[in-house]
Amino acid sequence: MDAPIGIFDSGVGGLTVAREVFKLLPSEDVVYFGDVGRYPYGGRSKEIITNFTAQDIAFLVEHNVKFIICACNTASAVALDEVARNYKIKMIGVIKPGAQAAAEQTSNGRVGVIGTHATISSNTYARMIHDINPDIKVFSLACPLFVPLAEEGYIDREATYLIAKDYLQTMHDVGIDTLILGCTHYPLLAKVIAEVMGNKVTLIDSGEETARAAYMILAEDGLLNPRMSQKPARQGEHRFFVSDVPEKFSPLATRFLGEPVDKITRVDISGY
Ligand code: DGL
Repeated sequence: MDAPIGIFDSGVGGLTVAREVFKLLPSEDVVYFGDVGRYPYGGRSKEIITNFTAQDIAFLVEHNVKFIICACNTASAVALDEVARNYKIKMIGVIKPGAQAAAEQTSNGRVGVIGTHATISSNTYARMIHDINPDIKVFSLACPLFVPLAEEGYIDREATYLIAKDYLQTMHDVGIDTLILGCTHYPLLAKVIAEVMGNKVTLIDSGEETARAAYMILAEDGLLNPRMSQKPARQGEHRFFVSDVPEKFSPLATRFLGEPVDKITRVDISGY
């Protein structure tokens, strides 16, 4: 099916998920919406996150997408199920694939989850892990400062190491062997987090797992773009929409995606 895949996030962070989707599904057309005008979602109430998520999805549906990926951990944890109920179109969030991968990975049955305040207080990661294996002990921790650090490019700085050490000490103490990066921005800080946690702890990138899950669902449902099986494969078209001036999105997007982004259009999301 040659309709595009829709991906949305509270802003630029979802590009860490889009990056994985572009790698695995290079021939798919993608419409990305980043709600940069109302970012961040992570400290907001369930009610507001649900309203924003409903508008983000309505926008993508108007673009006739065949499948929707909610790249935002916060929206996936708090709002996606409720909004998805109103649509026939299939949607996935990042929580279940991340939870699944962590449950498979852990050998000592002790898994850590880090994310925004809203993601952690929703307890959605822990619930999903317990649905898979109720014996796994889940330790959850909000690390809100990681988001601005990643956006400001504080990737390999002393300050970032100090904050990571301070945040993650408790994770260390409880002896986890697997840590879910439950926020779009955290893969950018993976090197710092890995160094602080030590080599006995495996990091799970929810975005990477979600791209894999999306591939499998599209393949099973016969929704893959026919171009995927053509040789040589033709590159899909990637269009980007944002809810504030594109000039703010563009430089960050290059860092999060690992390549320059063009075709950025501003939309008035409040109308959806
Ligand atoms: N995209 C959000 C998430 O993955 C992080 C940024 C925000 O708080 O909006 O939870």
